[in-house]
Amino acid sequence: MENEALGRGERYPLFYGIGLGPGDPGLVTLKALTVLRECRKIFVPDGGGPGGSRAFRILESLDASLPRKVLLFPIPMGKVGPGLWRSMARKIISFLSPESPCGMAVEGDPLLYGSFIRLREEIQKLREDIKVEVVSGIPSFVAAAARLGLPLASGRESLCVLAGPLNIQQLENHLLENDTLVLLKARTCLGELEALLRSRAGELKAWLVEDCGTPHERVHLVEDGRVSGEWGYFTLAIVRKNLQDRGTLGGERR
Ligand SMILES: C[S@@+](CC[C@H](N)C(=O)[O-])C[C@H]1O[C@@H](n2cnc3c(N)ncnc32)[C@H](O)[C@@H]1O
Repeated sequence: MENEALGRGERYPLFYGIGLGPGDPGLVTLKALTVLRECRKIFVPDGGGPGGSRAFRILESLDASLPRKVLLFPIPMGKVGPGLWRSMARKIISFLSPESPCGMAVEGDPLLYGSFIRLREEIQKLREDIKVEVVSGIPSFVAAAARLGLPLASGRESLCVLAGPLNIQQLENHLLENDTLVLLKARTCLGELEALLRSRAGELKAWLVEDCGTPHERVHLVEDGRVSGEWGYFTLAIVRKNLQDRGTLGGERR
């Protein structure tokens, strides 16, 4: 990839945010693979969940040479203090030079609720001369919709993407305004989702998708407003208004 400033011959240290998609190595883009091979170091967040870093597993199954370049960053789930972001940013900067780009590889897309967003901010605070480029990845909810064969939005419908935790009132308000609601980090508010589905019986349909694009993938249509079993961190929900019979939530038929 070119990292020369147009016409001036200046060269910048280059840092990439690279999206790896939801888990299936077949859903990694050709551009992501090219950039990953070009990187000197690949930084990978590890939230400490069971089974290790998902992004690392995708890299392993893509190309056997990639894991050798990986540096894992333990990023605890929940709130991370500014000191940790700063020290990760410093570490990344120490490997960057105009001759050797580095990247941070994340599951899904880097600009959708990802740690890359925070890290990029910190890097740019420390060093304005570093050029940051993003290679987009297929977001989990787009892959989940494909798995379900479910339109996210069609015609004049609207789509809202949120991340939990949310209370029942917040969920309901978003559904008043939108036809489809995607809920990431769904595990944090399954009880609230159940309560909403029960109070709006017949007006909504909801699906849970866990570990989409991996061998452990699980799909569940939430019937009677009841979510059974345990659901892990990599679970999302898609809630659709019942478009044949919009009921009181539906507003005007478009
Ligand atoms: C911090 S967000 C990151 C989203 C990610 N950047 C993306 O583009 O999908 C993490 C949440 O995304 C959802 N998620 C990510 N990968 C998933 C997968 N393979 N299957 C189901 N949900 C997934 C889960 O709701 C999880 O709690």
